[in-house]
Amino acid sequence: MEKKNILSVQDLKVSYKVYGGKSKVVNGIHLDVPEGGRVGLVGESGCGKTTSLKAVLGILPSAGILEGGKVMFDGKDVRGMSRNEIDLFHRRGAGMIFQDPSAALNPVFTIEKQLVTGLRYSFEHNVDRKEVYEKVIQALNDVSLPDPERIMKSYPFQLSGGMRQRVCIAASLAADKKLLLADEPGTALDVTIQDQILRLINSLVEKKGLSLVMVSHSIGVIREVTDYVYIMYAGTIVEEGRTKVVFHNPKHPYTKALMECVPKLTGNGISRGIEGRIPDYLNPPKGCRFSPRCVHATEECRNSVPAMEEAEDGHKTACFMFRRQTV
Ligand SMILES: Nc1ncnc2c1ncn2[C@@H]1O[C@H](COP(=O)(O)OP(=O)(O)OP(=O)(O)O)[C@@H](O)[C@H]1O
Ligand SMILES: [Mg+2]
Repeated sequence: MEKKNILSVQDLKVSYKVYGGKSKVVNGIHLDVPEGGRVGLVGESGCGKTTSLKAVLGILPSAGILEGGKVMFDGKDVRGMSRNEIDLFHRRGAGMIFQDPSAALNPVFTIEKQLVTGLRYSFEHNVDRKEVYEKVIQALNDVSLPDPERIMKSYPFQLSGGMRQRVCIAASLAADKKLLLADEPGTALDVTIQDQILRLINSLVEKKGLSLVMVSHSIGVIREVTDYVYIMYAGTIVEEGRTKVVFHNPKHPYTKALMECVPKLTGNGISRGIEGRIPDYLNPPKGCRFSPRCVHATEECRNSVPAMEEAEDGHKTACFMFRRQTV
């Protein structure tokens, strides 16, 4: 039997009000996360990864406009939820781990104040403070923070960046959230700490049976952590499939170029990179958004948007070149 999706996003569109008009950033993306699944979202800086996650959670900044789309969480339509249901979705459903852990913590309260009070509020019935305290201590232990009692008494500035990131993960764990949206966790930290954080997320997802969306521009991270991957370019999904399959045999010219950007350990010099840059979202290309940078682009690519088509065994891509080769 097919696994149920904990999260299903269809045709999500987001724009930002900016000087001179509307910046059409996310242009109809879709994303399915099976229960207990580990899904990756990859794309270069500025392609709309963070915007998409924020739109899913309904926490876009004030300039952001959710233009359309459907977000289903655990079988419920998020956009049709009542205030209370949204509250519950945030408190117990899905948690986001941010790129920069200090942004998620309030600098003027101790960790105890933030986590215990926040968590007490997150259970429908007023649970005993001591019980919640124990739960938080357990979560801090689970994320391998030394001396949780001392951490509880600390202010965020007294902790290192890696510790703050662990505290944020512990906050999601203690609330028994079902889905973790990890937005490039640890990129603000040094590489060894980043690696530890990734390993931690990986083991927690496995141990607790959480579902995960891992956002990254690093192919290496996605390869290690996820089973299924969506490749995003300029607000559109251009390719998707099982992670191993997509990375072993990429179909879309953008994915191929992205793979070539991965520094090679074999010493073949510096990778080529991708010519050009992400389009201006105020005036995006009419057809395929990658066409201005694509060496294979034709008139058709510049004028029409390619649909997602199955290559084989669930591996899909949205590219006219792929269709031309297969018919
Ligand atoms: N508050 C905002 N107002 C206007 N434009 C915004 C705002 N936030 C993001 N954008 C624009 O939306 C686009 C996508 O940004 P987003 O942060 O979602 O990208 P990203 O894929 O997460 O990039 P990165 O890998 O660098 O984190 C960018 O062009 C950015 O300038
Ligand atoms: Mg981002």
